Amino acid sequence: MIEHYDPRRQANSVDFSKDYGTPSPYPGAATVNLEIDGVSISVPEGTSVLRAAALADINIPKLCATDSLEPFGSCRLCAVQVEGRRGFPASCTTPVVEGMKVTTQNERLAKLRRNVMELYISDHPLDCLTCPANGDCELQDMAGSVGLREVRYGFTGENHLDAVKDESNPYFTFDPSKCILCSRCVRACDEVQGTFALTIDGRGFESKVSAGQNDAFMDSDCVSCGACVQACPTATLMEKSVIDHGVPDRSVVTTCAYCGVGCSFEAQMKGDQLVRMVPYKGGDANHGHSCVKGRFAFGYTTHPDRLTTPMIRDSIDQPWREVSWEEAITFAANRLKAIQAEHGRESIGGITSSRCTNEETYLVQKLIRAAFGNNNTDTCARVCHSPTGYGLKTTLGESAGTQTFDSVMKADAIIVIGANPTDAHPVFGSMMRKRLRQGAKLIVADPRRIDLLKTPHLGEAQHLPLRPGTNVALVNALGHVVVTEDLEDKAFVAKRCDTEAYNRWREFIAEPRHSPEASEAITGVPAEAVRQAARTYATAGNGAIYYGLGVTEHSQGSTMVMGIANLALATGNIGREGVGVNPLRGQNNVQGSCDMGSFPHELPGYQHVADPIARGRFESVWGVKLDDEPGLRIPNMFDAAIEGTFKALYVQGEDIAQSDPNTQHVEAALTSLDCLIVQDIFLNETAKFAHVLLPGSSFLEKNGTFTNAERRINRVRKVTAPVAGKEDWQVTQDLANALGYPMHYTHPSEIMDEIAQLTPSFTGVSYAKLEERGSLQWPCNAEYPLGMPTMHEVEFPIGLGRFAITEYVATEERANRRFPLLLTTGRILSQYNVGAQTRRTDNQRWHDEDMLELHPSDAELRGVRDGDWLGITSRSGQTVLRARLSERMQPGVVYTTFHHPGSGANVITTDNSDWATNCPEYKVTAVQVEKVSQPSAWQQRFSAFDLAQRDYLAKAQQEAP
Ligand code: SF4
Ligand code: SF4
Ligand code: SF4
Ligand code: FES
Repeated sequence: MIEHYDPRRQANSVDFSKDYGTPSPYPGAATVNLEIDGVSISVPEGTSVLRAAALADINIPKLCATDSLEPFGSCRLCAVQVEGRRGFPASCTTPVVEGMKVTTQNERLAKLRRNVMELYISDHPLDCLTCPANGDCELQDMAGSVGLREVRYGFTGENHLDAVKDESNPYFTFDPSKCILCSRCVRACDEVQGTFALTIDGRGFESKVSAGQNDAFMDSDCVSCGACVQACPTATLMEKSVIDHGVPDRSVVTTCAYCGVGCSFEAQMKGDQLVRMVPYKGGDANHGHSCVKGRFAFGYTTHPDRLTTPMIRDSIDQPWREVSWEEAITFAANRLKAIQAEHGRESIGGITSSRCTNEETYLVQKLIRAAFGNNNTDTCARVCHSPTGYGLKTTLGESAGTQTFDSVMKADAIIVIGANPTDAHPVFGSMMRKRLRQGAKLIVADPRRIDLLKTPHLGEAQHLPLRPGTNVALVNALGHVVVTEDLEDKAFVAKRCDTEAYNRWREFIAEPRHSPEASEAITGVPAEAVRQAARTYATAGNGAIYYGLGVTEHSQGSTMVMGIANLALATGNIGREGVGVNPLRGQNNVQGSCDMGSFPHELPGYQHVADPIARGRFESVWGVKLDDEPGLRIPNMFDAAIEGTFKALYVQGEDIAQSDPNTQHVEAALTSLDCLIVQDIFLNETAKFAHVLLPGSSFLEKNGTFTNAERRINRVRKVTAPVAGKEDWQVTQDLANALGYPMHYTHPSEIMDEIAQLTPSFTGVSYAKLEERGSLQWPCNAEYPLGMPTMHEVEFPIGLGRFAITEYVATEERANRRFPLLLTTGRILSQYNVGAQTRRTDNQRWHDEDMLELHPSDAELRGVRDGDWLGITSRSGQTVLRARLSERMQPGVVYTTFHHPGSGANVITTDNSDWATNCPEYKVTAVQVEKVSQPSAWQQRFSAFDLAQRDYLAKAQQEAP
């Protein structure tokens, strides 16, 4: 029995470790009163008898039922007797009825259950003592529960005991000899994950679970989410890590450190060994579901590449020297002080990370503002969602998504623009697919035909395959149809929006130049398709918009975010469940890193540095005078470094050398620095240019909080000790103290208390409340003590919603004869961001190289075949990737991922950026493509530099005492 640490169990009497057999009905149902074994019970209408009994701690034996799946009624183990009814109905498929009287235990039921179990066991290996699931097997539990003592049918008849094991998946095995054909795996894949990779193949005795057309799991459509493994009541589907290490005996609830969905997991341990990550049913973002990354790809945390000792060197062409924490911190602080003494206060800065916790991020920006004495702080959100901050703040008054993830279950029409949820936000993608299967209409605006459009059992769906860089023209055309076809929600606009701004926008958007017919030449999307999409969204009832980096990473990223907000305001699709404007944040804590004051112009809580009242509050708590001028953004830091005025940089948990655009420019900037301090768990690409290397702690090694894409603050709990002895916040604190600015926190909860003291939207947040509630969605303050799931229900933070004028301006990055193709970039499911974590796991099996996808017609024109080496040249540089021909692309558009540093995807992306926020235009790069036979000049330089730096590290580690 696993001992669970679950704070809410104590607070709310909810036991997320218990399986109640069938799902709970939707909230709000009427109450039904019944009697089970003489106990009076009241439950919501729609509850099954099995669940009602379990809620009263009357545990009816069951096998095919589990509370994450709809009841199926196949095993008959859960049979009960109901007064006034004939026979023995299955309690999992029998709903409660007012006045019902149920008996769950008597001799006839006991005999019936023993008979059922006997049949199962007669075709099941009796190797319980050596089975990896021993102690964690529902079949074993049920055999005990029904009192099975003998198997009359013997084990000599026809059976499946010799069935061959499928070990193709790197993370779990499938041993059909142990299968009881309960279908839980098949139903989990259909209902929870939405992939439909499994079937029950054959009939009668020949029936068996099959992946695809009797394929190995790895060759099927399986995306390795783990839902079937989770659902399997036997050892048929079993994590390899449990086979290796044994059944865990304790667990800690924490939050996934990959994407912005922010799934909660139980880190299940045996002693100090992390055995498996199991999605936590009590997780408010994921409700017990997971994807391959969070569920299985945690091996990087114990990878031999982990940095475990601080290191220093005078210049980047020298070997590293392993030193104590004290020596490294003193070395870093002395260098920073010396540089400021020689080059001025503004000559140094720092970059926070969207992978680190809120508390760590808060502390880094505090270090910069209070100890460095300037506002030269920025974050990787600069290169992803900074236009969301600007665009939503301008129109709706708050820099955040408006909904919960659950809200999608009430959407009637869903627009997805420039996002790929099934790959980049997989657990939310599964939820969205569920709603689409229930009949919600789908509109996808994307240059590529993303997998969401291939959702099994998808109803009405439209793809608007626009040309990269033309988002604003498309959103204006949608707005034009809404206005000119009288599809507006006039009552909402009159009540909730600024009339003057609305009238200005209405006049602008109604101009014929914004019509779908006029825009078709720009976007390439047929006018009628745009008209149809606008009508669907505006008239569906609840229209919800989800968008990603395909919106923000453009020269008009901020304009497009405002265009999306305009559309939602005009149709009244804001301020209730099922609607809204929802940025899908890429990394685990992008929302949090923005909230925590990482940007150079904003203190935590988006309070402008020039605001004397806000600044004064920080000055009095921090005990220093703060600069009232915004500091440098990341691109400005790079330019200033090359010019020679910016000399030192502290980077925590971010790999700017790989993730920022125009790699050669970034490399030139990093090489120009006199002191680069990198704090990371690996020698990443940026660290190869560093003078001080401070080992970071992984998410399993620290306490803190992450804030996901729905503004949900989730606890991160320490599972194991930090491999280098310190949590990241402690390292930042040490650096501050060495610089002469005192910091004396003893636990991240104290940092959160300070955040709450200084940030109006966080005043009600504390670790104690997070323990009690599980999670909180900000704003959480005196007005909303339990947080705010849906924003803008009554009014906007700026009072009235403000329509913005969104003039389409074509990007300067255009295709021409020299660069005739447009390159756009994205992610895939198995890898995460720059790949530093997932490349050090078995996820490599799915994607061990970035490739260039191009349409067969573009390939034919150039004589390119699948797998050929292609030189890709832009105005910024050249790189070489292998070709993958794909009908998903439209002719003229090519696509690649950026998960492998040697691919050099960002060598070719340009310096173009969003006019308001400098967010790089990753999504549009004009390129030429030609067949080549060797790596690019940059790739050859990269390999040589990489080799030298790895060598320096290896030598330092060998020479260490
Ligand atoms: S791992 Fe996920 S996708 Fe694969 S078969 Fe199981 S439920 Fe389906
Ligand atoms: S593999 Fe497991 S879940 Fe699937 S049918 Fe067999 S026993 Fe049931
Ligand atoms: S969906 Fe995102 S947060 Fe959830 S398990 Fe996958 S990577 Fe982690
Ligand atoms: S648990 Fe009810 S029929 Fe199987």
